[in-house]
Amino acid sequence: MNPYRNDFPLLRQTDEKGRTWAYLDNAATTQKPEAVITAIADYYQRENANPHRGAYDLSVAATNVLESAREKVKSFIGGDARGELIFTRGATESINLVASSWGKIGLRPGDEIVIAISEHHSNLLPWQAAARETGAVLNYLYTDADGRLLQSEIGAKITERTKLVAVAHVSNVTGVVNPVEAVIRAAHAVGAVVLVDGTQSVPHMAVNVSALDADFYVFSAHKMLGPMGIGALYGKKALLDAMPPYLYGGDMIEYVEEQSATFAPLPQKFEAGTQNVGGAAGFAAAIDYLISAGMDTVVRQECALTDGLLNALKDIPYLRLIGPSENAERIGVVSFTIEGAHPHDIATILNSDRVAVRSGHHCAQPFMHHLGVQATCRASVYLYNTEQDIERLAESLKNVRRWLGHGVK
Ligand SMILES: Cc1ncc(COP(=O)(O)O)c(C=O)c1O
Repeated sequence: MNPYRNDFPLLRQTDEKGRTWAYLDNAATTQKPEAVITAIADYYQRENANPHRGAYDLSVAATNVLESAREKVKSFIGGDARGELIFTRGATESINLVASSWGKIGLRPGDEIVIAISEHHSNLLPWQAAARETGAVLNYLYTDADGRLLQSEIGAKITERTKLVAVAHVSNVTGVVNPVEAVIRAAHAVGAVVLVDGTQSVPHMAVNVSALDADFYVFSAHKMLGPMGIGALYGKKALLDAMPPYLYGGDMIEYVEEQSATFAPLPQKFEAGTQNVGGAAGFAAAIDYLISAGMDTVVRQECALTDGLLNALKDIPYLRLIGPSENAERIGVVSFTIEGAHPHDIATILNSDRVAVRSGHHCAQPFMHHLGVQATCRASVYLYNTEQDIERLAESLKNVRRWLGHGVK
């Protein structure tokens, strides 16, 4: 019995045929435990007010919810006194903030930005825009055919001209864990700044941003049991202090005159407007849930599920795995295609068996092109998944080609 599954109301739901969801789209977003849903409802029922602004008790309570969540999120990723945690709407906004704000002070014509070809569009398009706006050049670290970042690429592409390197800690397409330590070392050796996209790593493994020495580290709450609409940017204070504000408005100022303004210190300088305090309450509750499960347990549980998943997929005729076939250097995000079946058709057939997987380009079109595929199906696990979920996926996959008129062979 999986001890976590019952904490998730959506996973307890059954349809008219008595079926629960085999939810295997955790790389897109995760389900929410009762504790997170309750924490958000409790905040709105008991403590809701605009934080930082009121002299009354309720506003102080809302401020405390926001600030204690900040400390919890920062400590969960091993942040120390050198860094600050900024709340954003999610990883996408965090990366846009850095690309736009740091880009203004850190990039000049001819400078180079280096990213991996495997990046999610959220860690690609902001750098395309920064390159366009500053005259910098965008270069790519290419991967092998299974999506592994190549050491030779790191050595060749990160040079004296490189000013910024942005890489995902874990790929949302192949589940490959990138050698971010080596990337950070190479970048720091030439004086470049590094942004690590931790959207697929923080939910699934213990991360220590201080030990990594990442300059910026970003992630989203909704992929780690928390609510949508809130995420984080962890950054070194020395860099954040030097950067101009990204959004302007209430709560981020020190003093405003008719033609000029001075800005609040960190983190408020980057938190213009009313913050998502209910989301912060849910984010903190999600972290409490993960801490009480233990990240080592999360890793163990997902590793066993990924073993089962890779084994099950091996036995499906005409199935091609996209990414490494072994369970080392990866997490439980597994992409595949089936000859003669479009990924959207596969996902639709799985849906009729109440199995949820993702199909498409996974917001990584240049990577798909590099891998020589148009689209894939992607199954991704989390701590509440069970062997039965994997069995249901495998059973349903066996029917795909027959459904599409290919016969069993
Ligand atoms: C690796 C990676 N980076 C960034 C994002 C963007 O996250 P969000 O949509 O929560 O901003 C995703 C979402 O799928 C992702 O997988």
